[in-house]
Formats: sequence, structure tokens, C-alpha cells
Amino acid sequence: MRCEIWWTTPAGDLDRCLPLLDDTERTRVVRQHREIDRLRFATGRVLVKSVAAKWLGVAPQDVVLAVECDTCGSALHGKPRLREPASGVEISITHSGRRVGVALAEGGPVGIDVEKESNVTEPNLLEPYVLARTERESLNEMTGEPRSRAFLRYWTRKEAILKASGAGLTTPMTRCLVSGPDEHARALSVPGFPPAGSSLHLVDLAPGGGYIGAVAVAVPGPVEVSENFWDRSELFGSLGSHL
Ligand SMILES: CC(C)(COP(=O)(O)OP(=O)(O)OC[C@H]1O[C@@H](n2cnc3c(N)ncnc32)[C@H](O)[C@@H]1OP(=O)(O)O)[C@@H](O)C(=O)NCCC(=O)NCCS
Repeated sequence: MRCEIWWTTPAGDLDRCLPLLDDTERTRVVRQHREIDRLRFATGRVLVKSVAAKWLGVAPQDVVLAVECDTCGSALHGKPRLREPASGVEISITHSGRRVGVALAEGGPVGIDVEKESNVTEPNLLEPYVLARTERESLNEMTGEPRSRAFLRYWTRKEAILKASGAGLTTPMTRCLVSGPDEHARALSVPGFPPAGSSLHLVDLAPGGGYIGAVAVAVPGPVEVSENFWDRSELFGSLGSHL
């Protein structure tokens, strides 16, 4: 099975993104209070539609996403899925600081997470909400990576899994157990996930200096993960002929 990760940086100008956004997505842009959040959201949509278009052999504006919250049914938040064209391809989107990332996978659900290291200055305040008791004990014994970096390894691995499952943070992160930051990434125990017949693959990513990332994908067999960077000017340049 194939899983592709694509990274880019947020668009500098919202007008470059708008032609690819549908009415619901434009509503969500308007609802964001900060310009950087508008740009990160819109860039995520442009990136995922552009990569999906390449996978599926269509134009980016022919790619339609659907969002539905598993908890309240809202179409304005929740796990995004590809609605058109019909395919078995699953997607996930993440953004933090100057990174926007997407994951596409065939054969099963995928979740991606990136966090900017400098956003977490006091990991010890967050630890009780993220780590199980055994994980906190392991973190206390670690002497290698800086504590904030080791903490973010746990965080991104867990969030990638919970985004793949679609539960997001409605499942407490403390109930999702993963291997330690200095070990090979591995899911140890996740409530109700993956579905029977699938294996949960967890891979640490390399989003660039100052960022930590992970991807989780649940598929029946082995999976090959590739990681790529799409330069922002090339991403928007490539749209020119389609818009
Ligand atoms: C999803 C979530 C884990 C994201 O956390 P984050 O670190 O702030 O943000 P990230 O940038 O990594 O990810 C955001 C992306 O996750 C995706 N996403 C949102 N909810 C998701 C879910 N339940 N499952 C998978 N992906 C989800 C979206 O694509 C979103 O990006 P977009 O808004 O630009 O489309 C967290 O916000 C969450 O769990 N939210 C849902 C909570 C919920 O369901 N509450 C009930 C509401 S009724």
C-alpha cells in the first residue's frame, strides 16, 4: 500500500487559494480570526486537492472534500474525506507554524500531525493530559533528547493515530499508548482502533528543523511511506493552467 506525505509552507496571499475552495471552505476561511489561520487552512485544502488530483488523474478543481464531525454531524469541522472523484484514497491534513502537511493513503484511514517545537515551552503542564502514567515515568528517566522534543514525539504519534481513527481529541490522549520517543515508532494500545483485519503503522516524519511530525495509517498489509516537499511557489504555479 502507498502512503504519501507532502509538506509546504502557508500561502502568502489568500487570493491564490480561493479559486480552489468551495462555499463551505470559504465559510470556514471567513470564520478564522487570524490571517495566519486563514492561510494555513486554505493552503491545506490547496495542497491536498493538488496531490489528490495527481493521484487520481484529474484537475485540482475537480477534487471535492467532505467534512463531517462524528460527534455532532457538523460539516464545518471533523475528519476530512475525499468525496469526488470516488476512490479508495484517504486523506489527512495538519498545520503548525510555517508547516502545512497532508497525507494520502490507499487502502485504509490515515492521520498526520505536525507540531512546532517552540510552541511547547512548558511540556510538564501538558503531560497529564497527553501521557499515561507509564509514559510520564519513562519521560522522567530520559536523558537524551530535550524533554520538550521527547514530549512532542509522544504527542505527534498519538495525535496522528487519533486523527486516523477520526476520534481526534474526543478520545483522551492518555488512553492511546505508543512506544517511547527513543524507540522505533509503534502503537501499543488504542481504544477501538484499528478495525479488524488492519495493522496500524506509525512512522515519525521529518517536517524540517524545529518541527516534529508523525503519520499513522491502518491498512491490511505493509505500507510504504514517502515524504516530499512541494515548494509553495511551484504549488501555486502548477495551478495556473487549471484556474
Ligand atoms: C483534530 C484535532 C486532533 C486537531 O488538532 P490540532 O493539533 O489543533 O490541528 P492539526 O493542524 O494537526 O489538525 C487540524 C486538521 O485535522 C483535521 N481534523 C479535524 N477533526 C478531525 C478528526 N476528528 N479526525 C481527523 N482529522 C480531523 C482537519 O483537517 C483539520 O484541519 P482543517 O481544519 O484545516 O481542515 C483536534 O482539533 C480535535 O480533536 N478536534 C475535534 C474535537 C471534537 O471532535 N470535538 C467535538 C466537537 S462537536
